[in-house]
Amino acid sequence: MDFQQSKTKENLARGFAAECQEGARYQFMAKMAQQQGYQYMSMLIRTLAHNEMAHAQQFFNKIVELGGTNIQNIEITAGYPFRSGDLCEVLKIEANNEQMSAESIYPSFADTARDEGFKDVADLFDMVSKVERTHQRTLEKLHESLSKNILYKSNNGEHAFKCDECGTIIRDKCAPKTCPLCKMGQGYFRIDFSLN
Ligand SMILES: [Fe+2]
Ligand SMILES: [Fe+2]
Repeated sequence: MDFQQSKTKENLARGFAAECQEGARYQFMAKMAQQQGYQYMSMLIRTLAHNEMAHAQQFFNKIVELGGTNIQNIEITAGYPFRSGDLCEVLKIEANNEQMSAESIYPSFADTARDEGFKDVADLFDMVSKVERTHQRTLEKLHESLSKNILYKSNNGEHAFKCDECGTIIRDKCAPKTCPLCKMGQGYFRIDFSLN
């Protein structure tokens, strides 16, 4: 099928728009986490934002590669999320968004691309969808740990908590309120999902 006439062209543009917006929302979320003292969480969320921009770039590159000089503007109609809330709520909202991308949106884009004969685009949507699943899990874990207030708590005895600022390791049931070496807050301690 001719790329210009394809649904895949539109889906790539929708994917590009979605990834850019997701990347922006994650920057907002990372800032919120940082302002509340969750330094390490903020860094994790910035990594997700970075991943989304990498996805956006791949979609953009595909459009340029397949559309060549024929592409000027692509008109798309789609719904994009604008829900917000406090940090805990936003983590949950974004986990749900990731789930939708991983379970329905990208798999359906991949099916369409395969039907239209764009196998490499289908593979790209499938690969991105797998990453979105890992994002979903990360955000769910952060949401769960934050809502239960167990981000820095071991669930069975002593654990080695590492300060991401200075590298100090503290063996205890929970991370200290401030790092004894560099005096940074608890939010600098690494979040270990195996704890909860
Ligand atoms: Fe993404
Ligand atoms: Fe994602």
